[in-house]
Formats: sequence, structure tokens, C-alpha cells
Amino acid sequence: MKKVLILNGPNLDKLGTREPEIYGSLTISEISDQCKKRGQALGLEIDFRQSNSETDLIEWLHEAASGKLPVIMNPAAFTHYSVAIRDAAALLVEPLIEVHISNPLAREEFRHTSLISGLAKGTISGFGVNSYLMALDAIAIEMQ
Ligand code: DQA
Repeated sequence: MKKVLILNGPNLDKLGTREPEIYGSLTISEISDQCKKRGQALGLEIDFRQSNSETDLIEWLHEAASGKLPVIMNPAAFTHYSVAIRDAAALLVEPLIEVHISNPLAREEFRHTSLISGLAKGTISGFGVNSYLMALDAIAIEMQ
């Protein structure tokens, strides 16, 4: 079974209570559960992780690069300024899909820049948990 790494950046552990008018009411573990359920239906093994640390995300990207794993990543605030995460994402050999719960382009100007988008196969933003589920569908379609 093909493994997919789903990586989540800072403050996403606070989903559920964090600005619910923007991010909705689901917690990160509910999003993880939905991704695992969709993965099962698509025949994908899901490894879902979240960290507030840039170091963890960089090391997980290195792991995905050496393991030749596709990655779905919500880099959260790191999207907008982390050259280090971009450089780690550039090592990937399988597709990277960038996801966001909200649509950063419809929000403050500082969220309009993504250092990650240029490396991603595609970006899915603005659909809440469905951004993740659509990214899983995209990986399954790309694998066909
Ligand atoms: C986010 C959007 C980012 O701008 C923000 O910093 C986040 C979450 C999203 O999923 O909508 O933390 O990545």
C-alpha cells in the first residue's frame, strides 16, 4: 500500500478552538481521522503528523525525500516565510501538494506569498478538511 505523509505546521494543533470563524470547528485529530478514512477508501496508508517546530517539519521532509513518499503539507504560517522548509521540500522526489484550510489569498496581504507553491504539484486552499481530502484524491488520481 502506497504511503502518504501528511504534514501540518504550527498552531494547527489548536484547531477546534483557534479562530473557528476562519478555520472551522474540527480538531486536528478529527482531520487526521477523516484523512485516514479517505486514505483507506483510496488504498493509501496515511501517516498524519503535526508540529509547531520548523526543525521537525524539515526532518520529516528529509524522511519523505529519502523514502520517496508523496507529501501533503499544510505548512501553516511557515508557508509565508520559511526558506528552510522550501529548501527541504525541494528535495522531494514524489509529488508535494500544498493545502490550506482557509484561502490565504482571500486574507491579509502577508498571506498572499507562498514560498512552497512553486515547488508543489498543486495547491488546494479554502475548503476546510476537504482541502486535505481533495489532495488525497489528487494523489490517487496521479498514481493511476
Ligand atoms: C493556514 C493559512 C496560514 O496563513 C496560517 O498561518 C495558518 C493556517 C490554513 O490552513 O488556512 O496557520 O495554513
